[in-house]
Amino acid sequence: MGAKGFFISKAVGVVGIVLGAGAVATIIALSVVYSQEKAKTDAPVAPTDGTGTTLPTVPTPAPSNEPWDKYRLPESLVPETYTVTLHPRLIPDPITKLYIFTGTSHVVFKCVKETQLILIHSNKLNYTKALNGFLATLTTEGGGAPAPAIKSSGLVEKTQYLVLQLSDSLVKDQKYKLSTTFTGELADDLGGFYRSEYLENGVKKIVATTQMQPTDARKAFPCFDEPAMKAIFHITLVHAHGTRALSNGMETGTTDQTIDGMSVQVTTFEPTKKMSTYLLAFIVSDFGFIQTTLEGVLIRIFARKAAIDANQGEYALSVTGPILKFFENYYNATYPLPKSDQIALPDFYFGAMENWGLVMYRETNLLYDPLTSSNRNRETTATIIAHELAHMWFGNLVTLKWWNEVWLNEGFASYVSYLGADKAEPSWRVKDLIVLDDIHRVFAVDALASSHPLSSPEDSIVLPHQIGEQFDAISYSKGAAVLRMLSDLLSEKVFVQGLSSYLNHFAHGNTVGTDLWEHLQKAVKLNGVVLPGTVQDIMNRWVLQMGFPVVTVDTTTGIVSQEHFLLSPAPNLPSPYNYEWLIPIRWMKLSGLQKDLWWLMNSTEVNMDMKTAGDEWVLANIDVTGYYRVHYDRGNWEKLIGQLKADHQAIPLINRAQLVDDAFNLARAAIVPSTHALQTTVYLSAEREYIPWQSALDNMQYYYLMLDRTDVYGPMQDYMRSLVTPLYLHFNATSGWTNVPEGHTDKYNQVNALSLACSTGLKECQNLTTSLFRQWMDNATHNTIHPNLRLAVYCSAVAAGGAAEWEFGWEQFKYATLASDASRLLSALTCTMNKTLLERFLSYTLQPAMIRKQDATTVITSIASNREGQDLAWGFVRDNWNYIYTQYGVGSFNFAALISGVTTRFSTAEELQQLVEFKQKHSATGFGSAELALNQALERTQANILWLQQNKQDVLQWFTNQTLTH
Ligand SMILES: *[C@@H]1O[C@H](CO)[C@@H](O)[C@H](O)[C@H]1NC(C)=O
Ligand SMILES: *[C@@H]1O[C@H](CO)[C@@H](O)[C@H](O)[C@H]1NC(C)=O
Ligand SMILES: *[C@@H]1O[C@H](CO)[C@@H](O)[C@H](O)[C@H]1NC(C)=O
Ligand SMILES: *[C@@H]1O[C@H](CO)[C@@H](O)[C@H](O)[C@H]1NC(C)=O
Ligand SMILES: [Zn+2]
Repeated sequence: MGAKGFFISKAVGVVGIVLGAGAVATIIALSVVYSQEKAKTDAPVAPTDGTGTTLPTVPTPAPSNEPWDKYRLPESLVPETYTVTLHPRLIPDPITKLYIFTGTSHVVFKCVKETQLILIHSNKLNYTKALNGFLATLTTEGGGAPAPAIKSSGLVEKTQYLVLQLSDSLVKDQKYKLSTTFTGELADDLGGFYRSEYLENGVKKIVATTQMQPTDARKAFPCFDEPAMKAIFHITLVHAHGTRALSNGMETGTTDQTIDGMSVQVTTFEPTKKMSTYLLAFIVSDFGFIQTTLEGVLIRIFARKAAIDANQGEYALSVTGPILKFFENYYNATYPLPKSDQIALPDFYFGAMENWGLVMYRETNLLYDPLTSSNRNRETTATIIAHELAHMWFGNLVTLKWWNEVWLNEGFASYVSYLGADKAEPSWRVKDLIVLDDIHRVFAVDALASSHPLSSPEDSIVLPHQIGEQFDAISYSKGAAVLRMLSDLLSEKVFVQGLSSYLNHFAHGNTVGTDLWEHLQKAVKLNGVVLPGTVQDIMNRWVLQMGFPVVTVDTTTGIVSQEHFLLSPAPNLPSPYNYEWLIPIRWMKLSGLQKDLWWLMNSTEVNMDMKTAGDEWVLANIDVTGYYRVHYDRGNWEKLIGQLKADHQAIPLINRAQLVDDAFNLARAAIVPSTHALQTTVYLSAEREYIPWQSALDNMQYYYLMLDRTDVYGPMQDYMRSLVTPLYLHFNATSGWTNVPEGHTDKYNQVNALSLACSTGLKECQNLTTSLFRQWMDNATHNTIHPNLRLAVYCSAVAAGGAAEWEFGWEQFKYATLASDASRLLSALTCTMNKTLLERFLSYTLQPAMIRKQDATTVITSIASNREGQDLAWGFVRDNWNYIYTQYGVGSFNFAALISGVTTRFSTAEELQQLVEFKQKHSATGFGSAELALNQALERTQANILWLQQNKQDVLQWFTNQTLTH
């Protein structure tokens, strides 16, 4: 899945929004809600009474430990082919008012271990009784003795099985065919086979679409719904005239038929390759499309007709070919399918989903309008396409056996998405941005005692919500970071050689992480790379223990040491490696880059080359290729800060950003004083590059969150205004504010300059944004604000303005035709300082007609990031938790992001108390996928309280002194 599903630009600066860290939302709240009904579903299957669709509800004495009580399939049956026909109804049933789909499925499986029991996943499907009186029929496939008779059939809701008990055993190595006829609801719940609604010219349109990953294929048809249960799928979709059906395979034909007296179209598809159920996809829509071909591969982009007509798919179409080519080269393996479809959906919970051959996206992540989209939209489109296409091989062709290794799949795609996007847009230097967008982001989460290792034991990840929780920032961003480190230390050539060997060896199969290490090890051997251990030795330390080290270089002695980096001390955290890592260190001195990689293998070692004298400084972790922080002796820090002030170009760009980020985080961990961290920002008045600025803004955001409701606020604003004014004047003089600069990251920094200058009260900036917004209000159909600057201008104008600006923004949001513009408005509306408006806006998040469910979480957390909205947003979540939690299920609210978002500022004893009470009060309702987020919030609040106590006075003093000297 694609991680970046959020509608808010990452480059908003200090006025901006705290993004839920990569938060790929966790799923499956419903299953938790359902588990409350456990009592009745714990029961073993009762033979059905012939009424077919009734669920077994006979309570039996618990605890039972029957095969159907286990969440993992037994290893007795292996599917080979499915033949599935599905008919989604895009108009509601006149009597029940439900949107439904009907279907039939025939699955051919092989018995590999004798059994009298068939367990196959099925969730929320109602079955039509077969002639035999049961929910399914069973026949022998490919000759052999007749299949045993079915003795009983039923559904187990808790573990999501269709269960068939047989009168006799299935024979080992014999194939059988299980046939079913069923009905499901085409709900608007964004999971399984679901419906998505949107308005076109005032008319409600419905799309039937799917999101199977991780465990919702079973909601579309009965299937062995585990990633290792690969099979070939023959899909047929029945749909109304005027609509088009798509699936993983290419359409092979569409015929007219009459079904139940209805004239319909029936589209068949080429059988799929052998693949996992979670990668299946079906869509029925009246979308438009554009297409091209690349060396025999058909590439199509689908979207709402209006979006296609407005050329919003062109950018995606133009980068897809180069990205596919890049990956074919990189993996040394041809694209495995004859076609590559990508489709933009108005309602999509995740950023995107890599269904094999039919990738789905949120509209904002696929569509790009050259006239109205921002630079950020363009980068997002390129990187998310690259992420999803990377999965076509890594993930889809070769699939991890189980969900405990989601990190390898998602971390890998996240890492190589930068390489693919770099191929499509070589001038962007997009590869550098991984440091800001993944590494810094996940450092923050992984420095908490509540973090977790990348990989967990297979048997600890079985419940649907445990599986859902694997899709977090650790998996995506830390995964990407450690794989980037591995590629760097092996060299890219050796890395891709091992990778290609792995992909070709396991094509169409399943693997565990160690399989990749073994193939990389082979490449290491072939190329004579010298390492301090095997690839597995090195990687186990990064994968099996949580957190990361801080490396301390003492340049007075040459002693280098490592320690687990934690924001607050937490004794007795277990680790199989005692929190020691094998650490590759690239480093330099004032006199130049050291050629060889140096390994820190023990807790403490001596490197006499790192001992310095005089002006000479040492800088370690060049370009942050290593997943760790660096600390130095006081003298070296001062020399580095001095170097930044004297001539910052002597320090590589990424490391300038890193010095800031390391210093701020070392300060957070009380290893250096806060004022020391603040010293690293002073040079920014001379800095024009985006990456260090963004790093500083991200870190200053913590200061704003902690201090903008205190007396530090004024002096802090004065200081930041003095830092940003030269940057503002730089852009004012070079590009002005109706044009944008040439360079990709300069475009971002122009936005930073504008939003920070305005939010810190630079009058000239505020006059500018207010007048730009006024011009738009005066002529609503003619928005002359440059798309890149829109979010910053809207936010600043809404913050400075009153109800008129807000109402105008809301009207524009309601009628926005472009998703990206709607997103900006939605975000900018949270910038108002008017509490009444903020309250009204919050109430809209529970009204899907006002704010789409997929956007509700972000609106609430954005309001919480506004200092006027903090209390309101928290109060809102507190008051409505039961309602939100029970009424909004799968794919609506991202509970984890919601909890972390509304509690980010928490820094007082009173807020801690409220959080504790909140946890107690709702322990019965539960928190589902937000459980971890809630514990993290408690930990973070305590740390914040301590931080304020220890730092507020010094920081106030420091800001005040800076202002005096400016
Ligand atoms: C399935 O059956 C249940 C119980 O009879 C019913 O409430 C539900 O509406 C049915 N679902 C569909 C899609 O027909
Ligand atoms: C690419 O694949 C071909 C054929 O499978 C193989 O001969 C060649 O060595 C591979 N190249 C690399 C760089 O792995
Ligand atoms: C690391 O420590 C171990 C045991 O203390 C020692 O045997 C080894 O030589 C050390 N390695 C280095 C490179 O210092
Ligand atoms: C910003 O640019 C505008 C247009 O060139 C100019 O009029 C204005 O004086 C500039 N502002 C400053 C403070 O230099
Ligand atoms: Zn992914």
